[in-house]
Amino acid sequence: MASMSSSLLFFSTFLLISSISSEAKDFLVGGSTDSWKIPTSTSDTLNKWAEANRFQVGDSLVWRYEAAKDSVLQVTREDYLSCNTSNPIAAHKDGTTVVSFHRSGAYYFVSGAEGACQKGQKMIVVVMSERHALRGISPAPAPVDYEGPAIAPTSGSNGVAVVKRGVLGALVVLGMMGFAF
Ligand SMILES: *[C@@H]1O[C@H](CO)[C@@H](O)[C@H](O)[C@H]1NC(C)=O
Repeated sequence: MASMSSSLLFFSTFLLISSISSEAKDFLVGGSTDSWKIPTSTSDTLNKWAEANRFQVGDSLVWRYEAAKDSVLQVTREDYLSCNTSNPIAAHKDGTTVVSFHRSGAYYFVSGAEGACQKGQKMIVVVMSERHALRGISPAPAPVDYEGPAIAPTSGSNGVAVVKRGVLGALVVLGMMGFAF
């Protein structure tokens, strides 16, 4: 009896953590608040940052910059390569820009500041589907796809990359432990 309830407890904890693992994450572009700028060296710092991270459908990117001086333009691949800013897919100029990924694939961003894209202020982000990301982690029944909108716009995120996953997971574990004892 006791062992049955503890395995139930274990299993529900596992399920909870599994579902939380698929929760959206916010990434602060470049890892710090002053990253959206013309690279100081020839190294492609923004794309290096993007390549070092794993983005999934449902995640969001957060840009911080001076609204009066800069902007974030989402453009096509062609316009990314040629730094053509005349006809962006989306233009963000508010100083705190949040873009949520609703599909997998490549996203192309360039600065809207005069001449900045030509000087390297641009970034490609490749987003993986949630299903792909979860494969191999969960032996349980097929995980529910999280295709819905990401967490509400996080304009108040203080420029800190919010990794909700780990914090929530820890909270749940603590909560379940409290429940068990
Ligand atoms: C930029 O793209 C627009 C269409 O999106 C095009 O009309 C224009 O000629 C392009 N400019 C350059 C410099 O390629």
